[in-house]
Amino acid sequence: MIRTEGLKMEFHVGFFRKRVVALKGLTMEVKRGEVFGFLGPNGAGKTTTLKILMGLVYPTGGAAWLMGRPISDSSVKRNIGFLPEQPYFYDYLTAAEFMDLSGRLFGMRRKEREARAEELLDMVGLSGAKNLQLRKFSKGMQQRIGIAQALINDPELVVLDEPMSGLDPVGRKQVRDIILGLKDKGKTIFFSTHILPDVEVICDRVGILVRGELRAMGTVDELLSGTKVKSVEMTFAGVSGENLSSLERMASGTVTRGSETTATFGDQEAARAAKRLVFESGGEIISLIPHKSSLEDLFMEEVGKRK
Ligand SMILES: Nc1ncnc2c1ncn2[C@@H]1O[C@H](COP(=O)(O)OP(=O)(O)OP(=O)(O)O)[C@@H](O)[C@H]1O
Ligand SMILES: [Mg+2]
Repeated sequence: MIRTEGLKMEFHVGFFRKRVVALKGLTMEVKRGEVFGFLGPNGAGKTTTLKILMGLVYPTGGAAWLMGRPISDSSVKRNIGFLPEQPYFYDYLTAAEFMDLSGRLFGMRRKEREARAEELLDMVGLSGAKNLQLRKFSKGMQQRIGIAQALINDPELVVLDEPMSGLDPVGRKQVRDIILGLKDKGKTIFFSTHILPDVEVICDRVGILVRGELRAMGTVDELLSGTKVKSVEMTFAGVSGENLSSLERMASGTVTRGSETTATFGDQEAARAAKRLVFESGGEIISLIPHKSSLEDLFMEEVGKRK
């Protein structure tokens, strides 16, 4: 659905035309039916990539294809939905009017526009605000109408630039569900984000972009395979005196709440020894949780790497 080959983007900024390289030869692919998460810190080049794909800016090098056709071919746009990073709305239109306008831009008939607007406003939780002017919308409501607008043409490919930004936890969950609902209908979703736990839950594959370079790409499991147990957290009770002091010395950190103590151990070995000591001193283990590396750890590692 999306393919890029050595995509490059350079900007020349300021009076001295200082060169800023936003993309250093990006080669990647998003397959049909996939939910693909495009991750990267601020300034990594995510929005630049999305804008190139949407034909809003021209790359200074490389090439890209949407549904097998070069991005310069505007006919594929009929089949694409796009949520920009900072959408601009006509302040004095109501939500319903704005949806109607979006539908007209695709040449949809009135009946179809009305039905689709109704359905989408309901899906993003804005049915109650359909007659409210957009200038009165909160940030989260603006984000939702932006998503609804992107889906008006029932697109095959949905491209979203930070769809979860500005949303509360309920709103983020709704957006996750919307994305999964689209996937169920066989749509392809390509979105950028900083919110890593969301990505772990819904993405088939992810790509990590750092300073214009793709540092990692694959399924979350692939990227995290080979990562070992990072630490073990054990909560226990009924241990006191010298035994408790030994346990505290073995742990890298402890927190005591009432009669329960939670200790963190750097590796499985230390955790096993601690478990034995709790049993031998007549104590009780309440929980034992191994922590594996998360996508967030990997992200931090890639961002921190110098190249
Ligand atoms: N029109 C422009 N003129 C000059 N530099 C630009 C322009 N657009 C983007 N850049 C630069 O390109 C780099 C990548 O920006 P981009 O907006 O693509 O990052 P991003 O990954 O979307 O970041 P964020 O997570 O903050 O949205 C930045 O260094 C930015 O300053
Ligand atoms: Mg951006």
